[in-house]
Amino acid sequence: MEGVLFDLDGIITDTAKFHFKAWKQLAQDELNITLPASFESQLKGISRMESMKLILKFANLEDNFSEKEVFQLANKKNELYLREINKLTQADILPGIENLLDALAANRILLSIASASKNAPLILEKLGLLNRFDAIANPENVANGKPAPDIFIEAAHQIGLSPEKCVGIEDAPAGVIAIKKAKAVAVGVGDDAELNEADVVVNKTSNLSYLLLVDTYDKKYL
Ligand code: G6P
Ligand code: MG
Repeated sequence: MEGVLFDLDGIITDTAKFHFKAWKQLAQDELNITLPASFESQLKGISRMESMKLILKFANLEDNFSEKEVFQLANKKNELYLREINKLTQADILPGIENLLDALAANRILLSIASASKNAPLILEKLGLLNRFDAIANPENVANGKPAPDIFIEAAHQIGLSPEKCVGIEDAPAGVIAIKKAKAVAVGVGDDAELNEADVVVNKTSNLSYLLLVDTYDKKYL
């Protein structure tokens, strides 16, 4: 293992609740619908525009808005989301993540962010983690979102590695599929059944460790 490719939302910090709060408010204010709680996990790992389109489809309103209007709605959601994100501090880093980053750096493992979020640099800055990563893949530079492998391939490329040399860490089913398609080793954080395509699953971030990552990688390749 020479590199680790991190998802951000749900792995480094718990922004899923803020994404969903913003989507819920947008849906209520602009579309006059109430989003069911089940949408929260459905939108994990899915880009802003794709999420917007899924919500419009759910509301049976997909033919009522032009592409430009869909974009404007998605922008409004982002404004609501940014209000929450601006309150993030180091205290919002998920348990075990700082220790994991320390152990990986001590073992000279390269670290890259593979998030669909265009807000990733801002979030890392708020958490005080910006200088702990060697690269942040830009989702605007990849053609296809998760579950396509593109962002993980790009994140590996940004640290000069092929994905086969890397472990990817994800909380979303679409993200785990993306890691596997990129041919990296997949560590899932969350529900075993939901993330069954991963090489190993832990139920919370505090159960992640350098040894777990190395062992999972070595089992695959040695
Ligand atoms: C992550 C989250 C998604 C979010 C996407 C885009 O993958 O899990 O819920 O829609 O990023 O985030 P952005 O900050 O660019 O709107
Ligand atoms: Mg995630």
